Amino acid sequence: MDSKNGSPWWFMLPIFLLCSSLYTHLCLGTDKLDANRSISGNQTLTSLSGNFTLGFFSPGNSTYSYIGIWYNKISVQTVVWVANRDNPITDKQSTELKVSGGNLVIVNNSEVPVWSTNLTTTSSGSSSMVAVLDDDGNFALKVAPNSSVTLWQSFDYPTHTWLPGAKLGIDKRKNRSQILTSWKNAEDPSTGLFSLHLQTFSDGKYYVWWNGSNPYWTSGTWDNQTKIFSGVPEMRENTFYELKYVDNENESYFTYSNKISFNTISRFVMDLSGQIKQESWLPSQAWTLFWSKPSQQCDVYRLCGPFSVCSEQSEDSCSCLPGFSISSPMDWNRRDWSGGCKRNSNLNCAANAEKDRFWPMSNMKLRDAPQSLVAGSDQECRTACLSNCSCTAYAFEDNACSIWIGDLFNVEQLKQGTTPGTSFYVRLAASDIKDPSKKSNVTAIVAGSVSAMVGIFAIVSFAVWRWRRGATVTTKEVEGSLIAFAYRDLQVATKNFSEKLGGGGFGSVFKGTLPDSSHIAVKKLESISQGEKQFRMEVSTIGTIQHVNLVRLRGFCSEGDKRLLVYDFMPNGSLDYHLFHRNDSKTLDWKTRYQIALGTARGLAYLHEKCRDCIIHCDIKPENILLDADFCPEVADFGLAKLVGRDFSRVLTTMRGTRGYLAPEWISGVAITVKADVYSYGMMLFEFVSGRRNLELSENGAIEFFPTWAASKIAEGGDLLDLLDPDLEKNADTEELNRICRVACWCVQDEETHRPSMGLVVQVLEGLLDVNLPRIPRALQMLLDNQEHVVFFTESSSSNQNSQTNSNTSTSSLQNPNSSSSMKSES
Ligand SMILES: *[C@@H]1O[C@H](CO)[C@@H](O)[C@H](O)[C@H]1NC(C)=O
Ligand SMILES: *[C@@H]1O[C@H](CO)[C@@H](O)[C@H](O)[C@H]1NC(C)=O
Ligand SMILES: *[C@@H]1O[C@H](CO)[C@@H](O)[C@H](O)[C@H]1NC(C)=O
Ligand SMILES: *[C@@H]1O[C@H](CO)[C@@H](O)[C@H](O)[C@H]1NC(C)=O
Ligand SMILES: *[C@@H]1O[C@H](CO)[C@@H](O)[C@H](O)[C@H]1NC(C)=O
Ligand SMILES: *[C@@H]1O[C@H](CO)[C@@H](O)[C@H](O)[C@H]1NC(C)=O
Ligand SMILES: *[C@@H]1O[C@H](CO)[C@@H](O)[C@H](O)[C@H]1NC(C)=O
Ligand SMILES: *[C@@H]1O[C@H](CO)[C@@H](O)[C@H](O)[C@H]1NC(C)=O
Ligand SMILES: *[C@@H]1O[C@H](CO)[C@@H](O)[C@H](O)[C@H]1NC(C)=O
Ligand SMILES: *[C@@H]1O[C@H](CO)[C@@H](O)[C@H](O)[C@H]1NC(C)=O
Ligand SMILES: *[C@@H]1O[C@H](CO)[C@@H](O)[C@H](O)[C@H]1NC(C)=O
Ligand SMILES: *[C@@H]1O[C@H](CO)[C@@H](O)[C@H](O)[C@H]1NC(C)=O
Repeated sequence: MDSKNGSPWWFMLPIFLLCSSLYTHLCLGTDKLDANRSISGNQTLTSLSGNFTLGFFSPGNSTYSYIGIWYNKISVQTVVWVANRDNPITDKQSTELKVSGGNLVIVNNSEVPVWSTNLTTTSSGSSSMVAVLDDDGNFALKVAPNSSVTLWQSFDYPTHTWLPGAKLGIDKRKNRSQILTSWKNAEDPSTGLFSLHLQTFSDGKYYVWWNGSNPYWTSGTWDNQTKIFSGVPEMRENTFYELKYVDNENESYFTYSNKISFNTISRFVMDLSGQIKQESWLPSQAWTLFWSKPSQQCDVYRLCGPFSVCSEQSEDSCSCLPGFSISSPMDWNRRDWSGGCKRNSNLNCAANAEKDRFWPMSNMKLRDAPQSLVAGSDQECRTACLSNCSCTAYAFEDNACSIWIGDLFNVEQLKQGTTPGTSFYVRLAASDIKDPSKKSNVTAIVAGSVSAMVGIFAIVSFAVWRWRRGATVTTKEVEGSLIAFAYRDLQVATKNFSEKLGGGGFGSVFKGTLPDSSHIAVKKLESISQGEKQFRMEVSTIGTIQHVNLVRLRGFCSEGDKRLLVYDFMPNGSLDYHLFHRNDSKTLDWKTRYQIALGTARGLAYLHEKCRDCIIHCDIKPENILLDADFCPEVADFGLAKLVGRDFSRVLTTMRGTRGYLAPEWISGVAITVKADVYSYGMMLFEFVSGRRNLELSENGAIEFFPTWAASKIAEGGDLLDLLDPDLEKNADTEELNRICRVACWCVQDEETHRPSMGLVVQVLEGLLDVNLPRIPRALQMLLDNQEHVVFFTESSSSNQNSQTNSNTSTSSLQNPNSSSSMKSES
């Protein structure tokens, strides 16, 4: 350091250290680049209030460097923008980012530009030009420090992240759109295969594209009134973000902002997985997924490259078909599966060589359309495939022969026990298929599954044969107690479906009376994608499930495209009516609530653990808990998830009023397990305590979320009677209240593994096990950290009035001899 003005060098030293260590604005405006300031090596810019940092970075173990912007206040470097994504730098020390010749440029030490903003403006070269890093993450090139004229800004050239305040749309004058494009892999920010943008000459819909074509997801059209996209109905329930659409003669775009100004950092990314994701950084120091589309990982077009198989179940989304191995293991480790798999041995198509063989794959879904051939048998179809050297797979199902030519893409392994998929045969070199006499483990497994398939097929054919014989239009008893009703008979029983009991996403329920004057509830199913065979199979499975806390299925009807289920009629209707509609129903006393909680837990534990195949209910909410004459709970609608198949999750997430009970994994799109039911059950327990819906929007639009308040009360060891439904006037067994609250809080933990099984819940509620103090789930904690924005459930003056008007009815319900005696015998 040289001392032009006469100060000795040792006088300058401390000031220099101060500057470089603190990056304070006292010494230099560190959020700006100008004619006199550039950055290279480890130097960075930081926005004024320290939200963002700009500088060189190297993702993961990459040896390349890039200029990028990342969050300054987050412990995990999370890059939101990359300048030279397709032009990496090898030596950052000899490379510089600077304002030069009217442009922002990255040059190597021979002053050769590696990257440039490529502007050709008249203001070229003006020495007053600056590039400023703003606190919203935008990096803008301006003609002068306080000028309103922006020549170029990073917000117009997003990479894979869409930040709040940035536009994502079309500049009509320049005929250019902002495109979010995924990284190539976790260590390479170069342009990847998946992108999101509005179409030029927009139809107002966003599309997610594969390699610039092949759209595989669309947002649907925007409704300016309701402010939701038709393809994203769950936005209706979104209380966190606000989208704004602008469409004029110059441009057409969306921007978004945080609706509630949480102190939370959130981002919207086009992820490596081919999904668009919205994530928030939580105090627990991790990005947490709020939302992703397409919600099924395997709905992403060609996520897995040639000859690899996508699966929702496994942690790594893709795996190789048998006889193939990973083309580039290094890319796979970095979450880029597009290279797919290569054959272990080449096919042998020559006429006199040993013939290629076929390997069976079952329960698969193939999205790419095959070619159809005329073939009368499996053998003919196989021969047809063998005779064309480009044929790589065939399937022979329902007397139709299909062959696939060239590389196989978009193959999905379906979950065992869900909607049956198709079976096909993949062509392999003879040498890749072991001699059956020397059975390896793999062949044993496959042989096992093939024989299982044959077994299932035999059962199905038998069932079909039986149904065919019985498929006349008269009502008859089949399978022990299950009755196959004729549609005509149900029309008569329900007086042509005149008395509606309720409705939901899967169809409406009507009251009916059978000739023996017993009452029934008839559910008319909608959106059933299954054919008759499968429907009858599933129904007969549901029919075998019997438990005092599960609504009994008496029969069904399947004629043409009509699908109906017939249940026992429940005189006291559904729980929501008694819990929430207090004006015209008696308040449920605490003992009854506790017995309903316990009975429901027993019913669910039976579904999860005691049935032959475990059944995930998927839609636990008070509407699906029915009460018999003695207020004994019976769980309704179990098994519907299987009946409705893949549509189920769509219907569920679209249905209003379901959202408050849905476990986070429904929204994040990972595989659903029985623990999703446990979560919904826990959410419902909070409602048993409070006597009102967890998720309520008050008239002024504030969120009132009871579980958050309850969870903190429980964790602090506060007086739980404060949580109690005011109508109960603190009449509750404190020991039971304590148990229910703790169990509820354990059930809604973010991690599935932290939630108890329903069997365990039953034991705790029965008082056989003690339960530890739970911790506050992360998602609830986040709301808690922002208390000022959340209006908690408190005893306002108006709710006091309610409790007074209802106090008479609640006393009479406590004295109701019928309900209390039956509860005693139950417990
Ligand atoms: C750059 O430095 C020169 C001389 O030190 C000064 O005259 C000029 O104003 C500076 N430019 C800016 C934009 O600060
Ligand atoms: C830059 O940072 C790296 C890692 O923190 C460090 O090893 C290196 O010495 C730094 N280089 C300079 C020139 O400060
Ligand atoms: C980086 O390299 C280290 C050691 O070679 C390895 O353990 C680590 O997993 C690598 N990280 C990534 C992201 O590949
Ligand atoms: C700068 O880049 C040019 C063009 O890529 C290259 O020819 C030159 O060798 C580079 N200089 C240095 C010092 O890397
Ligand atoms: C700028 O122009 C050069 C040469 O035409 C091109 O290679 C480069 O990609 C352009 N840079 C940007 C950021 O568009
Ligand atoms: C800086 O980040 C905080 C959140 O950490 C955000 O509330 C604030 O709006 C940001 N500042 C600007 C100018 O965007
Ligand atoms: C720019 O504006 C800020 C306040 O808005 C002011 O403090 C600063 O002096 C201005 N700079 C110039 C170069 O005008
Ligand atoms: C706009 O750009 C698209 C391709 O990006 C092109 O097909 C179209 O012709 C362009 N339209 C105009 C009016 O330039
Ligand atoms: C993507 O499309 C380009 C042409 O637009 C093509 O050259 C390239 O091979 C494609 N990438 C893949 C992985 O198919
Ligand atoms: C949507 O509504 C806003 C005002 O509510 C209006 O300014 C805007 O032009 C409308 N956009 C479209 C595309 O109709
Ligand atoms: C569109 O651009 C023109 C020219 O830049 C400008 O005069 C006009 O106000 C713009 N229209 C809108 C709606 O911003
Ligand atoms: C194989 O089948 C494809 C599609 O039918 C056809 O285009 C191709 O010519 C066939 N190849 C041979 C060798 O028959």
